[in-house]
Order: sequence, then C-alpha cells, then structure tokens
Amino acid sequence: MKSTIVAVINQKGGTGKTTTTINLGSALAKEGKKVLLLDLDPQSNLSYSLAVTAPEATLADVFLGNQSLKDILVEKDGLWIAPGSNDLVDIEISLVSQPEREKFLKNMLADVKGFDYVLIDCPPSLSVLTLNALTAAQEVLIPLQMEVLTLQGLDQIMNTVNKVKKAFNPKLKIKGIVVVMFDIRRKLSQEVLEYLRENVKEKIFDSHIRLNVKLAEAPSFGKSVINYDASSNGAKDYMALGKEFLNAH
Ligand SMILES: Nc1ncnc2c1ncn2[C@@H]1O[C@H](COP(=O)(O)OP(=O)(O)OP(=O)(O)O)[C@@H](O)[C@H]1O
Ligand SMILES: [Mg+2]
Repeated sequence: MKSTIVAVINQKGGTGKTTTTINLGSALAKEGKKVLLLDLDPQSNLSYSLAVTAPEATLADVFLGNQSLKDILVEKDGLWIAPGSNDLVDIEISLVSQPEREKFLKNMLADVKGFDYVLIDCPPSLSVLTLNALTAAQEVLIPLQMEVLTLQGLDQIMNTVNKVKKAFNPKLKIKGIVVVMFDIRRKLSQEVLEYLRENVKEKIFDSHIRLNVKLAEAPSFGKSVINYDASSNGAKDYMALGKEFLNAH
C-alpha cells in the first residue's frame, strides 16, 4: 500500500496548520485510516499538543542519520506521531548547504510503510524544511483564515508550490483550501470567502472549521478535539472535513 503524503502549509504563523494536522488526522483515524503525523516545525507544537513531550528520538535525529524514521514513531490515541524538536532549527541551517537538500524527507519516508495517510505539519515559513515537505508530498492542504491579507498570502503559497512543482515534484497537487477559525457572524469573513470562491480555481472544502474554544483547549489535555470533546463544534467540523477529504480527488 502506498501512503498518501499531505503537506499542511501556510507561511503565515498561527493560521491553524497544527490544529488542522492533528484534528484532520484524528478524524481520518476515526474513519479507520492508519495515519502518521510528522511534526516538522521546530516549535514542536504538534508533539506537545498530543502530550509527546520527552520522546527518545525526534525527526532531527532522523535528518542527522542517527535514527530511521520508523524507529522514532510514537503511538497516541490511534495516531502515529514522528516527534519534532527545537533541534530542527540546526537541521534547517545545515541543510541549506547540502546537495539535494530538498530530498532528505522524501528519502526518510521511503522506509515507512503501511500508512494510509502521512500528514506533515510545516513551520510558518517557506523554508528548506517546508521545501522538504513539498518535495516529499503528493498533495498540499492549505488552512486559511478569512482575512483581507489572506489573499496575498495565498498567492505566495501558490507561487512556492508552482516553483517546487517545476523544479522537484511535477506531480504535486493542491488537495484544497480549508477555511479555518471561521466566524459566521463576521461580515468580512463571508466577503473574503465569496471572493475566494469566485477567484481561486483550487478546491475550497465545504466543511468550514468554525471558531471554537474547545479546539484551543484540547492541546492542554494532550488530545485531539475529537478525543477531548466529541460533541463540540470543533470535533464535528473536523469530522465533516475528514469525510469530505476522503471523498475529494
Ligand atoms: N477553529 C479554531 N477556533 C479557535 N481556536 C483555534 C482554532 N484553530 C486554531 N485555534 C488556535 O489558534 C492558535 C493557532 O493555531 P495553530 O497552532 O494550529 O496554528 P499554526 O498555523 O500551526 O501556527 P504556527 O504557524 O505557529 O505553527 C492556537 O492557539 C490554536 O489552538
Ligand atoms: Mg503550528
């Protein structure tokens, strides 16, 4: 079985990448899929949010060649996690001067088998780590907040994806845009969404993720929102997204 590798990217900070990686991953696992989450962000928010706080080894060790990816995986609540580390900052710096620097993650993933989905939580930059994610992935998922500057940010993401496509990964495709932290009562949110629908050719998922405090609370319990409070809007929205994701091509 070949895994579908999905890079969750947005170069802007705090746009719901980590929340989407965890909770979409959790939703896919509830749908019976075997899911691996890669914490490629030196901030390690994903690992902390799932209470993987002192792993024996992390992705940084794998980049250094001291560990193989399959040996560092940690299981939590039916999800598999490749923990991140602040040491990824050093990896990032050292990668810049390496030949074929964009291919490290792709090569690392070659020895991981048996997953339906691998979701990569990227750092808030279009750095060499994100470049590695885009080179390893078949698909890109973009969580987007409905703000005025969203549109400019989206252009930058598309430019980067197109460059990576041309240079390193011709089959890379945009799976879609996920509207996150959506405030239904706010007129601006509706307007930006309408503008996007009219002007962007990429798929915009119908399942919007509403603003929901349970999504912000869940990490302090080390759980996905679905395992923390299955009846919350956050859990319902991500479960709906999971179903739509599985049916989208
Ligand atoms: N739908 C939502 N409703 C309420 N809070 C949310 C929602 N989605 C995310 N948050 C909160 O917003 C903050 C930013 O989200 P998150 O960490 O997922 O973004 P990020 O893009 O991964 O950030 P970074 O760029 O720093 O990695 C977090 O505190 C998270 O709990
Ligand atoms: Mg994050």
